[in-house]
Amino acid sequence: MQSNKNNENIVWHSGKVSEEDRQRVLGQKGKVLWFTGLSGSGKSTIAVEVEKMLNEQGKAVYLLDGDNIRCGINSDLGFSDEDRNENIRRIAEIAALFRDAGMIVLVSFISPFRKMRQFARERAGEGNFVEIYVNTDFETCMERDPKGLYKKNIANFTGKDSSYEAPENPEIVLDTVKYSAEECAGQVIDYIFNS
Ligand code: ADX
Repeated sequence: MQSNKNNENIVWHSGKVSEEDRQRVLGQKGKVLWFTGLSGSGKSTIAVEVEKMLNEQGKAVYLLDGDNIRCGINSDLGFSDEDRNENIRRIAEIAALFRDAGMIVLVSFISPFRKMRQFARERAGEGNFVEIYVNTDFETCMERDPKGLYKKNIANFTGKDSSYEAPENPEIVLDTVKYSAEECAGQVIDYIFNS
């Protein structure tokens, strides 16, 4: 059971509809597919493909993408370590709620710090969380520079003056140099249906 760590008078209470009841209606179990990697690594491109493939297979699926979420609920946050941690804390909580609701939720954020990805895993619940490392090296991302950001000399840029902690035990590692976005998405789909 969850409680509010700042106020002992606030505790989580369940209603009359359980997680299993929701699963029965949707015909699926909720999951969090957490994509992590550098800016320009291909996370969002692959996540968009996975979302489309799962939707075509009749799954209730929803993508939470860093750039989109930073236009709305997280528009007050910048790129200091503290703000990135708050960005991921909020999205981990949102993803956990979507999962509890029964959705397959795809999350595509740089999420550079292990501690926060571990937090997201714990909030989703072990067994409901798939960490997908889009392992594209810094030089390749810089060459691709799809948004023209590497050229701009932005302060606190991930891989330059802000660090990226690569996952140690991700469930899936994707190689975007060797494989196309569609092939990488296929690898994610294979994992989900065969694990
Ligand atoms: S995170 O580090 O807090 O997880 P998030 O995924 O939300 O980052 O946002 C990253 C996106 O913001 C990048 O893909 C890029 O488009 C943009 N961006 C703007 N400034 C920076 C920066 N300093 N470092 C990395 N990405 C940045």
